[in-house]
Amino acid sequence: MSGTTTATKTYLNFIDGQWIPATSGKTCENRNPADTRDVVGIFQRSGAHEVNLAVEAAQKAFRAWSLTPAPRRAEILLKAADILEQKKEGFAHDMTREMGKVLKETRGDTQEAIDCGHFFAGEGRRMYGLTTPSELPNKFAMATRQPIGVVGMICPWNFPMAIPSWKLFPALVAGNTCVIKPAEDTPLSVYNFVSALVEAGVPNGVVNIVTGHGGEVGGPLMEHPLVRAISFTGSSEVGRIIGESCARTFKRCSLELGGKNPMIVLDDANLELALDGALWGAFGTAGQRCTATSRIILQKRIYKKFVDELVHRSKLLKLGNGLDEKVDVGPVVSQAQMETVLGYIEVGKKDGARLATGGKRFEGGDCKHGFFIEPAVFAEVTPKMRIAQEEIFGPVVSCIQCESLEDGIAIANDVKYGLSSSLYTKDVNRAFSAIRDLDAGITYINAPTIGAEVHLPFGGVKQTGNGHREGGIGSLDFYTEWKAVYVDYSDHLQRAQIDNRE
Ligand code: UN1
Repeated sequence: MSGTTTATKTYLNFIDGQWIPATSGKTCENRNPADTRDVVGIFQRSGAHEVNLAVEAAQKAFRAWSLTPAPRRAEILLKAADILEQKKEGFAHDMTREMGKVLKETRGDTQEAIDCGHFFAGEGRRMYGLTTPSELPNKFAMATRQPIGVVGMICPWNFPMAIPSWKLFPALVAGNTCVIKPAEDTPLSVYNFVSALVEAGVPNGVVNIVTGHGGEVGGPLMEHPLVRAISFTGSSEVGRIIGESCARTFKRCSLELGGKNPMIVLDDANLELALDGALWGAFGTAGQRCTATSRIILQKRIYKKFVDELVHRSKLLKLGNGLDEKVDVGPVVSQAQMETVLGYIEVGKKDGARLATGGKRFEGGDCKHGFFIEPAVFAEVTPKMRIAQEEIFGPVVSCIQCESLEDGIAIANDVKYGLSSSLYTKDVNRAFSAIRDLDAGITYINAPTIGAEVHLPFGGVKQTGNGHREGGIGSLDFYTEWKAVYVDYSDHLQRAQIDNRE
């Protein structure tokens, strides 16, 4: 915890295979949210000029990369995944230092990127198109996937390596070239990730990093005429701006936005299991996951017992610097995030919910230099309260009572988001009807709302996104254009829709 020493490393943008500074000469400090005296690194505060250079480099690199056979591209991705594996521990340390979540979780975040690399490297030898009969004789019909071109990626800070990997690996295996903007709070993890790709042999210009502020880098990137697609993960507010901008310039756009994820616990559930799940779902990553469990909807008969026990267990969670292996919950990512979360605690109290535990800034021990919030459990929350409707993105969970499964599902669905959801029950019939009726992109049975696996589709309904999915083969639909191909070997003119009807 050294403070601003002369040894603090300065990191540069990565454009066309070169590490270069922003021409403005401006930089941003990356500080440790567990101890703001610790400067993790100095990063470039870039602008439209660097975005232009990066997009032009990506455009220049596109043809050769798209003509490189996909299995060869995949070999590079696989090698990058191996490098990530070798460097996992150091990268996890860097990530904990720059965004605060505990080491177990930053190892998990890095592992998610490794898994994603393995999965999409496999796609290099699949990326299946389709063949289908033609309606005419002596004519062959098929559809293949083509890369799109330059893809712009705008990343969040909560999964600083996993989420960039969900974007970069499928884009690259499909033959696209990329310009990635890391979140202001977590550029080092993207730097580490891209360094692995470079070491693995990704050619110059294929992946470019431009760091800086949202409006100054993200804005020019989404507006750039050579960028063919934007992939964004972040808030619904920013997502709306990006979606509108992409519509004006006919860019493809993938938005992964907010959540207000419910866990329903029925009175026949294994309560021990549900309590373990609730603690992990609500307070893992200090609640800073799009998938975090932020509403626990409990059937009446078990409500009081469950809330009392949840409060008891929440109090036992150890707050502190995530580099300490004994710590359960790290800080929130920044001063601004801390203020937002503490603001919501006040809103909850004012709206009449009972703050059963936590919800205060924690400054004990070594925590006085960081942004720590005691895990907060609100009881007696009603479904329309703001803390039950709006995404808080911090260690705050709202407990709501319900009468029945149907009532629980109605409450669960009555928000503007629909990312993840969960139901605890031992009744298979009720489980399957909830799988059908929960309005969300992800439903867990007897597990909390977090913990998506990279080979399944990730994304949500309603204001959680715009219908795209990351992860799994479905994400290739975003990173490729379908091309229909017809080969007529009849040696005479055949007219579809006409000759086969005469
Ligand atoms: C996110 O919070 O934006 O499903 C991503 C999970 C993680 C990814 C979360 N694998 O909780």
